[in-house]
Amino acid sequence: MGKLAITGGRPIRRKRFPPWPVYGRQDALALQQVLESRNWGGYPFPNERADRFAQAFARLQGAKYGLAVANGTIAIEVALKAAGIAPGDEVIVPAYTWEGTVGPILLLNAVPVFVDVDPDTYCMDPQQIEAVITPRTRALLPVHLGMCFADLDAIGRIARKHKLAVIEDCAHAHGGRWRKKGAGASGDLGCFSFQSSKLMTCGEGGAVITNKLEYFERAQSYTNCGRASDSDHFRHRLIGFNYRLTEFQAALLEGQLQRLPAQAEIRQANMERFERRIGVVAGLGTLRRDARITAVAAYQYVFKYLPEQLGGVPRAAFLGAIETEGIPCDGLFYEPVYRSALFPVEPADFPALSWGRQPIDFKSVRCPVSERAAYQEAAWLPHHIFLGTRADTDDIADAIEKVLENISELRGLRHATIERQAMSRVERPRVEKRQW
Ligand SMILES: Cc1ncc(COP(=O)(O)O)c(C=O)c1O
Repeated sequence: MGKLAITGGRPIRRKRFPPWPVYGRQDALALQQVLESRNWGGYPFPNERADRFAQAFARLQGAKYGLAVANGTIAIEVALKAAGIAPGDEVIVPAYTWEGTVGPILLLNAVPVFVDVDPDTYCMDPQQIEAVITPRTRALLPVHLGMCFADLDAIGRIARKHKLAVIEDCAHAHGGRWRKKGAGASGDLGCFSFQSSKLMTCGEGGAVITNKLEYFERAQSYTNCGRASDSDHFRHRLIGFNYRLTEFQAALLEGQLQRLPAQAEIRQANMERFERRIGVVAGLGTLRRDARITAVAAYQYVFKYLPEQLGGVPRAAFLGAIETEGIPCDGLFYEPVYRSALFPVEPADFPALSWGRQPIDFKSVRCPVSERAAYQEAAWLPHHIFLGTRADTDDIADAIEKVLENISELRGLRHATIERQAMSRVERPRVEKRQW
C-alpha cells in the first residue's frame, strides 16, 4: 500500500467543498414573486427583471447597453449578427476554447479561422493573427480563458488597423477588468454565459453587452423574433428568433449579481494563497499574471503540469491521484475545437467553407500550444473549491504537494487503475467531456 490515496493511502480530504451554485432565502422569495406575478417569460420584451438585470450587469462591466439572452452560445450568435457578420465572412478564433465559441460562426454560414493560444495565458495569441487575415476577415473573437485575458491592447491595435470588429467571449470573465475596463466593454461586443458552472448562473442564460446603440438594437431585434427595438433608430429589419431569457432566470441572476463582488474577493484571496504555494513547486507552472488585469475573474484556477520534469508520468495519473485525494480537478476541460468530437464539420453542410476555394478541412489545422495544453499540460480546478476557508485552500495545495512528493507511486500505474480510483472522472473519452 502506498501513501497516495490512489495506491491505497489516506486521502487528504474527505469533506466536501462549498457547494455551487450559492443561493439563499432572497432567491426563493424572488422566484415565488415571479411565479405569483404570472409574468414568467421573456415577452413583453425586454421584460421587467431581465431588462433590469441586463442593464445592471452592463453597468458592472462598464458598457452602455446590456441584453439578456437564453445562453452563452446564443450570446455569441447574437453578437456576430449584431456586428453584421454575413455568409462567407471570416472570423478569427482561438483553437483552445469551448465549441460554443465557434459553432455560431458556422451557423451564420461564416468561416471560423483558428489561431493558436499564447503559452503563458492560454488565450488567443495576438502574434498569430495578422498571418491569417484575408480580404474576407471581418472580426476577431478572443476568449478570456480560465483566469486570464487575451491581450486586448494588441488585439485592439490589429482590429483598428484592419477595420475588424472585436467580439469578446467573456463566458469566464464576469467581473474581470482589463486596464480597469470590464470584460466585454473594450471591444465592440461582449458575450457572457450564465450556465451552471459559471461565476454567475441561473442554470442556463447569457448576456450581450456593447457601447454601440446600433449593435444593441440589432441584437435586440435578433433576440426578439426580428421585431424592431423600442428606439429603432436604425430601422433594422432582419429575421430573428426567440432567444429571450425568462423572468425566473432573471430573478436568480439579480441575486447572483449581488453576491459576485464578495465571492470574487474570497476566491481571489484563496487563489493567491494557493498560487504562492504551488508557484514554487518543481514540475508545475503557473499562467502569467498580467499587470493590465486590474480585477481577476477566476472562473477556474488553471495551472500547468509539466510531465517532462516529472519522469514522464502522464497528466491523467497526476490528476487521477489528486481527485482521489478529494480534490475535484480536470485535464481535458477544453481541447482544440478543430479536433473535438463535438465539432464534426462536413464542408458540404456549411457552404461558405467551399466558396471560391478548396473546401476547408479543419482536420488539417494544427495549433501546437493548444494541443499541448489540452492533451498534456493544463490542469483546471473549479472555482467553487476556492470559496471556502484558508484551511480548505490549504487542503488543495497539500494534496498537490503530496502527489508530487510521491509521484514515483504513479509510475507504471495502469490506466484502468487510474480510471477506477478516480471514478473515471479525469481523462474521459472525448465525447463525454464535462463541464461540471
Ligand atoms: C468559453 C465559452 N464560450 C462559450 C460558452 C457557451 O456558453 P453556454 O454554455 O451558456 O451556451 C461557454 C460555456 O459553456 C464557454 O466556456
